[in-house]
Amino acid sequence: MARPRFTNKSALFLIASAVALLATYLFWSLAGDVKALLEHRMGMGANPSASADTIVNVIKLLLVGIVGYLFVRALNSIFFGLAFWLKRIDAPTLIRNIFTIVAFTILFLIAFTFIFPDVNLGALFTTSAIFGVILGLALQDTLGNFFAGISLQADRPFQVGDVITVGAQRHTGVVEEISWRALKIRTFTNHVVLIANSNAAKEPIEVCPRENLNARLVFFNTLYTASPAKTIHVVREAVREADNVSEKITPIVRIRNLGDNGVDYEVKYWLNDYAKYNDTDALIRQRIWYAFRRAGLNFAFPTRTLHIERHYGAAVRDGDGSAIAERLSAVDIFAPLSADETTMLAQAAVSHVFAPGETVIRAGDPGSSMFVVHKGRVRVQVSENGRSRTVATLNEGDFFGEMALFTGEPRTANVLALEETEVLEIGHAAMKRVFDTNPDLVESLSFIMAERRQGLASQSDATDTGAHSAGILSAIKRFFGLSQ
Ligand code: CMP
Repeated sequence: MARPRFTNKSALFLIASAVALLATYLFWSLAGDVKALLEHRMGMGANPSASADTIVNVIKLLLVGIVGYLFVRALNSIFFGLAFWLKRIDAPTLIRNIFTIVAFTILFLIAFTFIFPDVNLGALFTTSAIFGVILGLALQDTLGNFFAGISLQADRPFQVGDVITVGAQRHTGVVEEISWRALKIRTFTNHVVLIANSNAAKEPIEVCPRENLNARLVFFNTLYTASPAKTIHVVREAVREADNVSEKITPIVRIRNLGDNGVDYEVKYWLNDYAKYNDTDALIRQRIWYAFRRAGLNFAFPTRTLHIERHYGAAVRDGDGSAIAERLSAVDIFAPLSADETTMLAQAAVSHVFAPGETVIRAGDPGSSMFVVHKGRVRVQVSENGRSRTVATLNEGDFFGEMALFTGEPRTANVLALEETEVLEIGHAAMKRVFDTNPDLVESLSFIMAERRQGLASQSDATDTGAHSAGILSAIKRFFGLSQ
């Protein structure tokens, strides 16, 4: 994203240096008067003229220094702003600072030799013991950071935007800036940590580059009774389509330990954006929970809580039995069924819970069951020219998945949970029993299916619903071995 640093900052510095230049010019033209005034005021000194001269010259140098500094900052903004604007080159802060320091020093030295032509700068630097002490002691840390910063820029072991973990304290965050003094990282709790360059250069640093496919491990466990092959399959399928999980490498699910309470597993997955790994880890755990629930798998937990859970689970299932029968009797197509038939269907129905965004049915898959939305909402969508088109949104009491079940053809659309959704799955055998005793049901179903087929087809493919429904009717009868 382009930053407007070039326009705003450059203009500001240019205006400020113009104002400072004007002030310097005024002082310069009034320098003679100021000098005379000073001589008059300081009349008692040994050489008043020389002292007044020095004071005026020092003020001149200060003013020129201010103009020079503002001018160099303006130049800096224009130069690096142009580089970013034209070539998308975002120069590191360190380089920009070095540019400012070098340009300012050159300007300052030129001004100094111009204002104080008699002073020998070389001698001043080499012979000044004070200068040596300042450099040696006061600037020791600063220079250390400065050169460590240069080596970090030259080596480029990481860049702005990478996630890094530094040193024994394990500060982890996204690199925001590498300045001449310190490394600035923003942690995942939105704190800023500053690490002096000289310290960073000595510490081990773990780097997760932004452009790299970085992996994470998430742990979970199961009871010893759960089949590892089934667990691995269920979890891999549940996590591979989660947001921010890279599609380039399929997640790996494997046993890491046979633990005290159960079998310990790990999921290794690769992220598109590593900086969001906390959210993605959480999503993966959530997907595992839902997948476990659908597949009838259980997490391992201490035996003393097992009894309490069992009792609670049984009570909930009893209550659910009648709720399921009630739900099915409210579905349009099952309205003609007797109470016994509805109870039979409810007993045959299997409940599954899906997380928001999870796929319930995938277009093109084979399918031998249909679903009724018990709680929540789903979206039916098809893919056209690589883009998704929503065909319908189905609410509690609506059904889907009947097309593949009643015709034996592959699934015609994707169905995704829009929120946490519980669906009731009814299989081929249960429906056959219902059809045997309620042959009229086939007809009303065929009409609904014909309408849905119209919704699936693009406008240009629209055909006569009545003719379609007759075709579907005989297809269903053929598939279920019913008399034509
Ligand atoms: P099936 O083909 O088994 O799997 C995808 C399901 O999406 C399909 O059955 C229908 O139940 C459902 N579906 C397809 N088209 C529509 C539509 N136009 N309106 C509502 N549901 C639909």
